[in-house]
Amino acid sequence: MKEIKAIIQPFMLAQVIDALRELGGLPGVTVSEVQGFAKHRPPDADGQPQEDPIGYAKKAKLEIVVPDEDVERVVEIIAAKAHTGRAGDGKIFVLPVDDVVKIRTGERGPAAI
Ligand SMILES: Nc1ncnc2c1ncn2[C@@H]1O[C@H](COP(=O)(O)OP(=O)(O)OP(=O)(O)O)[C@@H](O)[C@H]1O
Ligand SMILES: [Mg+2]
Repeated sequence: MKEIKAIIQPFMLAQVIDALRELGGLPGVTVSEVQGFAKHRPPDADGQPQEDPIGYAKKAKLEIVVPDEDVERVVEIIAAKAHTGRAGDGKIFVLPVDDVVKIRTGERGPAAI
């Protein structure tokens, strides 16, 4: 099992979610509004580089836990649907997941996803 953690532009969220729903078999998604920064910051409205080194951009975070065999297609869909080609498009991280517990039934592991 893996967790796919994607930080994307908030205005791309709806089309990413739509595409993931169309995929079918998507077990669930957690979505959060987050703030962050990376190496490069976009210029301000006048096209001037921003001098303040500590500024946060609003992003959307998706967290999706899937069986190993579903990782690539989920990552590919997010990467394609969140892509504008401009700085700040975001990143996708893939992390190992040791276990899952479904609280209602007590199921564990892949059966609990
Ligand atoms: N290494 C990282 N660790 C944690 N969060 C990150 C990391 N890199 C980027 N992020 C998150 O993703 C958001 C978008 O990053 P961004 O797409 O601007 O990365 P970048 O490396 O500057 O790429 P680009 O040059 O395309 O802008 C950041 O605001 C931050 O929330
Ligand atoms: Mg950037």
